[in-house]
Amino acid sequence: MIDNMKAMLLKAEAEKYAVPQFNINNLEWTRFILEECERLKSPVILGVSEGAAKYMGGFQTVADMVKNLVEFLGITIPVAIHLDHGSSFENCIKAINAGFTSVMIDASKYKVEDNIKITKQVTDYARTKNITVEAEVGAVGGEEDGVADELAYAKVEDALKLFNETNIDFLAPALGSVHGIYKGEPKLDFHRMVEIHDLINSPMVLHGGSGIPDDLIKKAISCGICKININTELQIAWSKGVRQFLNDDLKVYDPRKIIKSGEKNIKAMIESKIMLFGSNNKA
Ligand code: 13P
Repeated sequence: MIDNMKAMLLKAEAEKYAVPQFNINNLEWTRFILEECERLKSPVILGVSEGAAKYMGGFQTVADMVKNLVEFLGITIPVAIHLDHGSSFENCIKAINAGFTSVMIDASKYKVEDNIKITKQVTDYARTKNITVEAEVGAVGGEEDGVADELAYAKVEDALKLFNETNIDFLAPALGSVHGIYKGEPKLDFHRMVEIHDLINSPMVLHGGSGIPDDLIKKAISCGICKININTELQIAWSKGVRQFLNDDLKVYDPRKIIKSGEKNIKAMIESKIMLFGSNNKA
């Protein structure tokens, strides 16, 4: 069932688990994710970055592909099609009009007043269409889609202001996580996580979920995190499988066999994240 993120994250907050956002890169990944989440009865958010959407043929192609796969595979779990790090009002509107059920507007690189202004434009439009909106404050470090980002911890007053003045559904405060591979142990500010959650009293989102040790993930969930984004670890798992397959069989050339050779690894990674987040049997 394709839906926005509202019911799934409110249930996660009430029952203290997190819904995974797995980013998709192509048709096969989408299928692997849907099949494994269905098997484990976990709700899922399919994250689509602007770069990935462009790669796959645009927002309309992605929305139609997900809808058709959900129908073809007989998927019954809640599935959200979510724009990840929407960089402008215009792109969020394009994604919504193409059939995405949720968008993230990421205006975190601007000063907070401008972040609020842009985010509010998106929520005003999204409200008329039953679309959920996520927004970021502070800066998640690392690099995504080739765009580098300097880590900056969210300020409590900025987080509260952004949340209160924009009518967003979900806040993603940057509190020490980074996109991609960590250099050393992540330094998440759990104290501030609790402080912000107590003030906004609404489910929060953790970006850069790959590579965070299990105990820190569990602690984050206990501090109000209800959605955790995973991209890099799926990419690493899938490419390990494909690399091995190609090394073992130097004659193979069928692209379907090659792409499928990462399936076992990617599904094992999805299962381990779902069990860690506690979202199994919640659909
Ligand atoms: P990772 O690539 O670190 O898993 O982060 C994913 C993410 O936060 C997408 O927004």
